[in-house]
Amino acid sequence: MAFFTWEQKYELGIPEMDNQHKKWVAILNKFYDQVSKSDLKKNMLEMLDEALNYTKFHFREEEKFMASINYTNIDEQKRMHKNIITTLEDFRKTIISDKTITSMSLTNEMKKWFKEHILVEDKKYAEFLKQKK
Ligand SMILES: [Fe+2]
Ligand SMILES: [Fe+2]
Repeated sequence: MAFFTWEQKYELGIPEMDNQHKKWVAILNKFYDQVSKSDLKKNMLEMLDEALNYTKFHFREEEKFMASINYTNIDEQKRMHKNIITTLEDFRKTIISDKTITSMSLTNEMKKWFKEHILVEDKKYAEFLKQKK
């Protein structure tokens, strides 16, 4: 079974954003498979960098999208995106500095905030768009 199974409840009904979210889940699953067997620093850094890059890309695209629909809470979303990036960068520092962090806690943590962010914050702009129509 996949580490993170995509479910209908994550759908925003906005294909471009849904596809990016699905791609993010696929990245997390791929790396979970790669690192769950070992906590090798090299693997974890590679994993984190790919996730970090994709997260940055997605947030940029999402912020453009929110601006295009004149989403009123865009500043709040941007702040949360920033926090997530900071969290990922802190993980990166932790790995580099050889402090103990297991791939399990890393992937679980990423799964947790991703779920929460989509289900709560991203859903808000999807709902905003629905109301507008
Ligand atoms: Fe978001
Ligand atoms: Fe998102």
